[in-house]
Formats: sequence, C-alpha cells, structure tokens
Amino acid sequence: MKLSQRVSQVQPSATLSINAKAKALRAQGKKVISFGVGEPDFDTPHHIGQAAIQAVQRGQTRYTAVQGIPELKEAIIDVVRADYGLDYSPEEVLVSCGGKHSLYNLFQAVLDPGDQVIIPAPYWVSYPDMVRLAGAEPVIVDCPMSTSFKLEPQALREAITERTRMLILNSPSNPTGVHYTPEELRGLAQVLLDHEQVVIVSDDIYYRLLYKGAQWANMAMVEPRLKDRTFIVNGVSKTYAMTGWRIGYLLGDADVIKAAGKIQSQSTSNPCSVAQWAAVAALRGSQEDVQTMRQAFARRREYVMERLGRLPGVTCPDPNGAFYVFPNVSAYYGKKAGERSIQGSLDLSDYLMEEAHLAVVPGAAFGEDRCIRLSFALSMEELEEGFDRLEKALGRLS
Ligand SMILES: Cc1ncc(COP(=O)(O)O)c(C=O)c1O
Repeated sequence: MKLSQRVSQVQPSATLSINAKAKALRAQGKKVISFGVGEPDFDTPHHIGQAAIQAVQRGQTRYTAVQGIPELKEAIIDVVRADYGLDYSPEEVLVSCGGKHSLYNLFQAVLDPGDQVIIPAPYWVSYPDMVRLAGAEPVIVDCPMSTSFKLEPQALREAITERTRMLILNSPSNPTGVHYTPEELRGLAQVLLDHEQVVIVSDDIYYRLLYKGAQWANMAMVEPRLKDRTFIVNGVSKTYAMTGWRIGYLLGDADVIKAAGKIQSQSTSNPCSVAQWAAVAALRGSQEDVQTMRQAFARRREYVMERLGRLPGVTCPDPNGAFYVFPNVSAYYGKKAGERSIQGSLDLSDYLMEEAHLAVVPGAAFGEDRCIRLSFALSMEELEEGFDRLEKALGRLS
C-alpha cells in the first residue's frame, strides 16, 4: 500500500523500540528496570478520580464545546493568573487531548511549507516530527554542555533567517531537566524583539516540578512585549500524575487559538468530557498531592545525582526540574565488552538492555548522542537496583 509523503518523513519513536525490547525480556521472565519512563509513577490523586466518577454519574458524558468546557477554561485562566501573573480571556484558551495535541494543533494552525522552526538540542523527541507533519522545516541548534544544554542569545541570533517562523523553548526540559532562569530568558528576548515574524512556543509542561528553590519564568512573563506572540503549552499530565487522561491546553493570540480550534474540530472534536471535569478538580482542588510528589522527586533527584557522581568519566548538568537526568556517557564510547563494541548512545542503550536488563533512552533520540536519558520517576528501591546494575555494566566495559 502506498503511504503518504507526509508520513514517510516521520521517524518512529525511539522510545517505542526500547519499550518493545523491555517487554520481550519481561515476557521471558527477566526483571527489567526501566529508567525510560516519561510519566510520574504515582496514581492520580483520589479526589481527581472522584470528580471524574461524579461527572459520569451526573451524565456529563456528551460532546462538549470543541475548545473545552467553560469551567475548565476558567480554572486554567485562574491558575495561569496565579502562577504566571498573566491574564488571558476564554477566547485565548484551547483545551486539547494532552499537551502534545496542543502543540500539534498549534503547528498545524501557524506553520506552512518553507517555514523554519528553531529547536534547541537536546530536544523533546516529538518536536521535529510534529514540525515536519505541518510541512515546515526543523532547524536544530546544538546547545553546548557548558551552558547546561541551554540556548544562548548569540546562537539564537545566528540561527534566525527570513524564513524563521517559530522558536520552541521547553523549560524545565525533557530530556535534561534544566530550566531557563528569568535572566537567561531576558537575553533571548532581546534577540526575539528584533524579529517580529518569530512566534515563541513555551512548553511549560514540567513547570510545577522544580527543585532546590529554582526560580521559574517563561518568555511571556519576562518580556510583556513578547506576550502576544508567545504560545503557552501546558497540561495536567505531569503535575497531577494524569498522563492517561489526556488533557492539555494552549494559551495565546485569539485568532490563532480559533484556527487551532478549527483543526481540532475537524480531527478529535472536544477532549474527553469526563477527563475535562477531572482536570477542573485537579486545578481547583487541594494541591497537597502535587507537593508530596514533588518532594519525592526531589529526594530521588538528590540520590540520582549522588550515584551519577560516583560513575567514573560521567558528567551531568544539574537538573532543577522535571524527573530526568541527561548524563554524558561518551567516555565509554570506543570501549568493548567481549565482542560487543560501544560506538554511541544507541549501542550503549542496547548493551544496558541486553546485559543489565536496564532500559534507558539513547541521547541520539533527543539530538545529543553523547548522553543517555534516565528518568527518576521510579521507586527508591528500583533506582538503587538500577544504579547498581548501571555501575556494574559500565565497569565491565574496557
Ligand atoms: C516536553 C514535553 N512536552 C509535552 C509533553 C506532552 O505531554 P501530554 O501530551 O501528556 O500532555 C511531554 C510528554 O512527555 C513532554 O515531555
């Protein structure tokens, strides 16, 4: 069967093949520890589940407004006012089936063939492919480890051309866990003010998962003159352990929101009605569970950094957010274990999976082959065992 040109430009997800291998090993009865997970290991807080049950019992099970129920839009507006200090009207909010869907709708609404989108690397795996699906061209800007993999103003200036239509920023970052300080954002804002055609996507999906008193901001907050062309992407997945519920949202210019809503109206229609009511409870209800989860992640982060610090030749930017670390393991490239030679992050990931039954995501999937991504959304016991295995497996390479 002939496939479309569009789909042939899209890469299959690297994490899927890791998961498939992990599954195959588990089916053989092996205990695989997965550092590959991209979601909290906690259950959705009880009161949120209860709100969904009540929504079903009240019969809130029919189509809703395509752009989301007014109650959820209002809750989002209130949270954004409280957390960001920014005001939005309901016409500037679109609720979708996860932050990923929000990004997809936005790209479809504003990008054309020939447009360029600047994506600082390392980047979240889905950005380049979603940009390609919109017919535009991803322009990957490699960010050095010396800046903790963050984009610097000079690099941004050099990457912008007449065709640049969009810049994607993700802070705290998947895969590095690092975040941009308000000063760093102001530096980038100075460059963006000179280029009116560039819209900014601020993927804030991990903004509530911050550690060590890190001060968070986004572009619209630090530079009010850029608010009109900044699009905020957020959602309940990571903050409230609600990855399966599929509720994300997009805030920004009303015309673009309307256009993105039109795309949504001809694809998914409204996000799940019950999940929307659960999201209202998440945003409006007690935030105690969020605090408990954040504290658990903070303790695990400390442990993970301590264990990484003990691995010879491994360096790692200190992450202040999300639940990932992105260590540079390239000191092990060129080494061997028996007949197996490790030439890059894909080889190392295969080796760890096959020899240590440890799933990690190769840095190549995020545009940085020197690193691997480890998630610490695992229990302390699993983290301990995982690091014991990692230490031993790396120690066997010579
Ligand atoms: C950087 C980043 N943005 C967006 C998302 C999308 O999350 P969701 O679609 O579950 O809201 C993810 C999920 O892994 C992510 O890591």
